[in-house]
Amino acid sequence: MTEAPNPLLEGLTVRRRPDPCLLVIFGASGDLTSKKLMPALYSLALRRLLPEKFGIVGAARSEESDEAFCERMKQAVQEHARDPFDEEVWNGLAAGMRYVTLDFADNDGEDHLAEKLIELDNERGTLGNRVYYFAVPPSAIGTLVDEIAERRSSEGWVRLVIEKPFGHDLQSARELTAKIQEHFSEDEVFRIDHYLGKETVQNMLALRFANGIFEPIWNRQFIDHVQITVAESIGIEGRAGYYEQAGAIRDIFQNHLLQLVAITAMEPPIDFTADSVRNEKLKVLKSMHTPGPKHVVRGQYGPGFVEGKEVPGYREESGVAPGSMTETFVAAKLFVDNWRWADTPFYVRMGKRLARRETTIAIQFKRAPHPPFADATEESLRPNTLLIHVQPNEGVSLAIGAKVPGQGMTIRTVHMDFLYGGTFREGLPEAYERLILDAMLGDATLFTRSDEIEEQWALVDAIVAFWKRERISFPNYAAGTWGPAASDELIHRDGRSWRRH
Ligand code: BG6
Repeated sequence: MTEAPNPLLEGLTVRRRPDPCLLVIFGASGDLTSKKLMPALYSLALRRLLPEKFGIVGAARSEESDEAFCERMKQAVQEHARDPFDEEVWNGLAAGMRYVTLDFADNDGEDHLAEKLIELDNERGTLGNRVYYFAVPPSAIGTLVDEIAERRSSEGWVRLVIEKPFGHDLQSARELTAKIQEHFSEDEVFRIDHYLGKETVQNMLALRFANGIFEPIWNRQFIDHVQITVAESIGIEGRAGYYEQAGAIRDIFQNHLLQLVAITAMEPPIDFTADSVRNEKLKVLKSMHTPGPKHVVRGQYGPGFVEGKEVPGYREESGVAPGSMTETFVAAKLFVDNWRWADTPFYVRMGKRLARRETTIAIQFKRAPHPPFADATEESLRPNTLLIHVQPNEGVSLAIGAKVPGQGMTIRTVHMDFLYGGTFREGLPEAYERLILDAMLGDATLFTRSDEIEEQWALVDAIVAFWKRERISFPNYAAGTWGPAASDELIHRDGRSWRRH
């Protein structure tokens, strides 16, 4: 007799556990480590997804003892983890946790780190396997990579996980890649774009390639245009040093936004391996262009009100130059030049201090050719739109026209919704949980390859070169709005408008 399958396990896949290893975090005193990495590691530990033999070494410039580091990380987990705090799980993780003070320019520190790693290897049985996580600016990476390569032992594997930004422009990204490739091969390098770790972004692949009904209409014949919004209500959160150099174009457009476009526009990959998926994304990135400078708009926020609270303008944020010309908002019209998408605009916008936090991909289909209903106006019956709610309220919704109950034939737009919250019992994992685990498993599918990064920079460099010649006066939008007037004009010129929410 065959046993009936357990319905509660339906849809759950069991992945193998990673090999024993040590995780070294460079930049361990930074925000990313306490707000994202450590909480993610804790959630993985809680679900028993980390290797049984495991250890973490934090490395940063500041002086700190092992105990003080552990205590600080414990507080970070209590404050930022998505799961309730479990002392036993934490103690298990903390037992393999160490800290090394490291001046990135000084070799002595590296020796000290190497000693600590060997010591911890012996204690934890981690067989010389190492994941190095670079949560440091690109300028600090080159020296560290040299040092790691110099001290690499013949035992165990090495993987480098590199946070964005990967370089500052095309030239510096190429130099960084060349430096890394002196010692490591592409399959040892994991460039993080945490948007690819978001469940809802991966669900775009499921939606497109696991369903028969969308793919036939996913093209220029049926789709009028695509709108992608990455809106944040927060400001720069004390990161002026970084943001003044980056601006919205390097902070969001170059990576998260272009990856969202690539996932939306890519051809079906032949399988779900790292190279197949990345080859298809690369083709999109290569064929992307913006039709000209007036189709890229930038903005900077002035003072205003966000969610009822008064907030300062960008130039008043601490650490920002009073006459700063850094953009905190970008909107653009992009085209993907291939048979599927020719002449179909992708309107994208992203910014800080906008009216609210919302990331959506909206696929707007063409209108029905001839609706026979006299009462249906353009306003009451909007075109069908497939909305991917990346965050918050994660889910997918399809806008369709429906008859309003009662006499006559009044039509109104309604939504068919799939909400993660209501469908799956398990809360959504944080992007970093997935990505840290994938790097430990050596699965690079959700990481950006060097050629993708270069295509992304090529587009950004072209935009930035134009901006250098253009005169603009900032600030040009009030905090708490949807960006500068020029952003509306960009889309109105084509007889379309941004989705109102
Ligand atoms: C980061 C940017 O990559 O993404 C931040 O540096 C931004 O400026 C953040 O706030 C947004 O991420 P999320 O997951 O909150 O949408």
